[in-house]
Amino acid sequence: MSEAHVFPVPQDAAANAHIDSTRYKEMYARSIADPEGFWGEHGKRIDWIKPYSQVKDVSYDPHDVHIRWFHDGTLNVAANCLDRHLETRGDQTAIIWEGDDPSVDARITYRDLYERVGRLGNAMRDMGVKKGDRVCIYMPMVPEAAVAMLACARIGAVHSIVFGGFSPDSLANRIQDSECVMVITADEGLRGGRGVPLKANTDKALESCPSVKHVIVVKRTGADVPMKKGRDHWYDAATAGQPVDCPAEEMNAEDPLFILYTSGSTGKPKGVLHTSGGYLVYTAMTHEYVFDYKDGEIYWCTADVGWVTGHSYIVYGPLANGATTLMFEGVPNYPTTSRFWEVVDKHKVNIFYTAPTAIRALMRDGEDPVKKTSRESLRILGSVGEPINPEAWMWFYNVVGDGRCPIVDTWWQTETGGILISPLPGATDLKPGSATLPFFGVCPVVVDNEGKELEGATEGNLCIAQSWPGQMRTVYGDHERFVQTYFTTYKGYYFTGDGCRRDEDGYYWITGRVDDVINVSGHRMGTAEVESALVAHPKVSEAAVVGFPHDIKGQGIYAYVTLVAGEKETEELRKELVKWVRQEIGPIASPDIIQWAPGLPKTRSGKIMRRILRKIAENDFGSLGDTSTLADPSVVDDLIDNRPS
Ligand code: PRX
Repeated sequence: MSEAHVFPVPQDAAANAHIDSTRYKEMYARSIADPEGFWGEHGKRIDWIKPYSQVKDVSYDPHDVHIRWFHDGTLNVAANCLDRHLETRGDQTAIIWEGDDPSVDARITYRDLYERVGRLGNAMRDMGVKKGDRVCIYMPMVPEAAVAMLACARIGAVHSIVFGGFSPDSLANRIQDSECVMVITADEGLRGGRGVPLKANTDKALESCPSVKHVIVVKRTGADVPMKKGRDHWYDAATAGQPVDCPAEEMNAEDPLFILYTSGSTGKPKGVLHTSGGYLVYTAMTHEYVFDYKDGEIYWCTADVGWVTGHSYIVYGPLANGATTLMFEGVPNYPTTSRFWEVVDKHKVNIFYTAPTAIRALMRDGEDPVKKTSRESLRILGSVGEPINPEAWMWFYNVVGDGRCPIVDTWWQTETGGILISPLPGATDLKPGSATLPFFGVCPVVVDNEGKELEGATEGNLCIAQSWPGQMRTVYGDHERFVQTYFTTYKGYYFTGDGCRRDEDGYYWITGRVDDVINVSGHRMGTAEVESALVAHPKVSEAAVVGFPHDIKGQGIYAYVTLVAGEKETEELRKELVKWVRQEIGPIASPDIIQWAPGLPKTRSGKIMRRILRKIAENDFGSLGDTSTLADPSVVDDLIDNRPS
């Protein structure tokens, strides 16, 4: 190993893990040399109604992109997550729910979950929801969110979860794009002691969503919310009289399971579409091997079900494996910054999977809030969502894990469905800051800007050469956009949008996005979305948004704003614009810095030179590069002179 900091696999981890390094090498080699044979075998880890005889049918050719796995098999995803466990683990806890308030929690067994899903599925069918219909889920982190997902899967409806932090406008856009027939929501969410007005936001969104016929509302806080007659139904009333058994729809492996909107470098968020068979095989297998999950362990992923991490690694992967998965409603610093570790001790959590931004925020408060808890149940730690800087890695490892627990730094995307590059706890020596090596069947390739494949230790754009079963299948309603976004930049490969370095040991170090997407606290944000929110304000004539390094969030949002002639650049207007963006998109899109820009650096053909804006935002004025092609080079000096400190 070449790097200074290498953490070898602990001996006991290697001895007891599902996969040790020898097995990893063997299985990986086979998965690349014979993907059909490999996945044909591993596809059997889930239950099929009609077994598949075909394993893979994939083309990355831009004229004919199609991705199919196990495509003559049929199954039901909810039956795989519930029914098949009833005999062996009906009384085992499926979901531990930890409320926002530390005194509120619940345990739901597999049998209980099966019954709740059955009742809701029947209620949905009674309201006319059928196979293929889209259902929007706009929920807080309560067990009913998982119940709603599984009820959709059971009756063959396609769920589209919208994160509870999104605004009514963002919600409406997503509902319209996929023409949802139903919304499942709650009166209010509760985070850090504060209410989130989910039903009020839903009502506002639905003013422009005629496709929605029914709304099911979970009572969470008891807030007084108006209910529209004929359209709105309380969850309890709708499900109360329903039978617990709900026949599971027989789905083709390639029937859609869900749509999840994510930001790209241009245009509106796109509906990433995942299907049933391959997705479940891949999420279940990665959950078992990457977290080395063993029967009976308590597994906690701190993500929200509104993001892909929540889909794959709170609900589908763990439940397909019969795991006990913890669902947390709250936030890391409420009521105190010991909360995560108190929850770990309270529920004896063995595997803890979180985001670097949370670790960096908690690091600020020092070791005491961690050290006063035991954490002895912890065995494996995980990180996801953005590059983890070595300092945060070391703190996570030494302070949280007491130097005992391997960290799996898992690199993946909404599009990939599951983890693609990550250590396996019993197989991979760790290097802080590196996502290390590819999972089975994953073939990473580093290319230069011309698309030439680079060999050995190198740096460039990260592509993936072969398909894996969890890969997204299309952009909902816009297959051409799918092809354009992922398969035309570098021919023959899936392009991830990330840059990376590969070291002498073949380890991957993700360096961040190479497109106009920024990663704010592990949340993906298209700069174009924030720009269009800003220019929708009547006083703004133009806006350019870039990312800049931020101590806690990883990247912050830096907006250059040109006002309409005659408008004054005041502090008040600055605040108003931040508030405006929060209302247009949601709090996660709030600009951290707004700089007034009477002029923006543009080429003579009118294209904004973002490279220069990024450098100014980074406070890096020494390497602005060639500015001679600008229509008016003096705007650059003006921006530098007026950069807010
Ligand atoms: O830039 C990479 C970063 O997050 C992007 C994907 O974001 P999203 O689709 O929202 O999914 C997040 C959860 C899977 C990637 O293109 N990213 C994710 N995980 C890592 C990461 N960057 C570095 N290291 C990671 N472990």
